[in-house]
Amino acid sequence: MTRILVADDDRTIRRNLARLLNAEGFQAIEAVDGDDALEKIRTELPEAVLLDLKMPGKDGLDVLAEIGHRLAELPVIVVTAFGGSAAAIEAMRRGAYDYLSKPFDLDDVLLTLKRALRQRELTAEVMSLRAKARDDDGDDSEPEPSAAEPEMVGKGAAMREVFKAIGLAARTDEPVLIIGESGTGKELVAAALHRHSARAKGPFVRVNCGALPESLIETELFGHEKGSFTGADKQRIGRFERARGGTIFLDEVGEIPLPSQAKLLRVLQRHEFERVGGTETLQTDARIVSATHRDLPREVAAGRFREDLFYRLNVVRIAIPPLRERVDDIPELAEHILRRLERKYGWHGLSLSDEALRAIETHDWPGNVRELENSLARAAIAARGQVILPEHISKDDTSAEHPVVTTSFVRPENDDDLPLRAILAEVERWAIQRGLDACDGNRTRAAERLGISRRQLFDKIREYNLRVK
Ligand SMILES: Nc1ncnc2c1ncn2[C@@H]1O[C@H](COP(=O)(O)OP(=O)(O)OP(=O)(O)O)[C@@H](O)[C@H]1O
Ligand SMILES: [Mg+2]
Repeated sequence: MTRILVADDDRTIRRNLARLLNAEGFQAIEAVDGDDALEKIRTELPEAVLLDLKMPGKDGLDVLAEIGHRLAELPVIVVTAFGGSAAAIEAMRRGAYDYLSKPFDLDDVLLTLKRALRQRELTAEVMSLRAKARDDDGDDSEPEPSAAEPEMVGKGAAMREVFKAIGLAARTDEPVLIIGESGTGKELVAAALHRHSARAKGPFVRVNCGALPESLIETELFGHEKGSFTGADKQRIGRFERARGGTIFLDEVGEIPLPSQAKLLRVLQRHEFERVGGTETLQTDARIVSATHRDLPREVAAGRFREDLFYRLNVVRIAIPPLRERVDDIPELAEHILRRLERKYGWHGLSLSDEALRAIETHDWPGNVRELENSLARAAIAARGQVILPEHISKDDTSAEHPVVTTSFVRPENDDDLPLRAILAEVERWAIQRGLDACDGNRTRAAERLGISRRQLFDKIREYNLRVK
């Protein structure tokens, strides 16, 4: 039987909680104050603790501090009337699993407790699987982050093409244009290109052309002479000069204003430029890598980007597909991101439950890998660095653009002149969503129920942007 320690100096509350727990099939152990709680944690080995904050002698915060190192295995739920924001903040900071204030709803207590136990169990499973994997490798130490660890992950076909393109481009000094939606990894690709090129020992200089006001972009790129304009009280060395022998990365190159585009074109054609306000012509051998999330041909057509510059930048082009087109990479990316968070915060057992992985696989990720990173960091915090469950992934992330589910099929309005295809698509969308909901988002069961393959279901979920619980 699962043993739960109830530590509260208020006899009525303690008894009520104990009775509730026993009725739910747990075995309640009672402690009357902080010292008693610490003693019973040691001797009775409970699997979770319901802890009051204000108790005579050692209080709840003291108890949390003393068992701090064990909190990953021993979830503590603070149940208290005492305190406001400060107590809640401090309890969570010290590692409490959750904080409920009195008067509390008994259902809430049970729900929180069950969730904590489930998470603890899943985390223990992950830890033992990892330990086993290490034993099988004949390695009994924690995996160390090593220099050989790949900085870019992605085993899918799309990323493989990107890696191959980086390798090919790294053999030459030709300009490279990296295109991709925001957050797809353009900067990472630029850095990898530099590191794998013959210029790896030289500098990698990044200029964020999008963040610079028009008046500053030229002095940033080319430098300026002393006295060339008000405020130019010293000579300034520009990024092209700094990048000598290395790579200059023009990030968000699509944002460069037209007048500066002419000067940049000259660098690409003749490898020369002058500092702002200067007369001396300087040479640069920097390799030019640029990136943009814009559709440059369209910018050219609209007269916002010089066509000749576009062709010069675009000698080699590396296109990174958006994350929603390479769903295969999501598990590996998630794993990579979680390992990094574990190292950063000294967590152990941070991972995704199967349901949580499904939720992130079916999300659209308009912000691509960057959005995935942010969302997992948020979820990891909510999961206290342990197993991430679907409820830890904030609703904003996974359901913002998902349609409201209809419980019965609603005929599209004015469907008289809709093509049959569109009407059938509406029916299909409705039927599949209903199937998913009926199976609580379990795709295997939903596919069975609908009589289609898991792969087909997966495609439909993406096509119709369906909600998976
Ligand atoms: N294949 C990948 N493997 C590991 N991490 C990745 C990968 N792709 C992107 N990232 C991570 O995602 C984040 C966004 O990447 P990056 O800054 O390179 O994207 P970007 O295309 O330049 O985005 P933006 O348009 O927002 O500037 C970074 O933290 C990066 O480390
Ligand atoms: Mg970027």
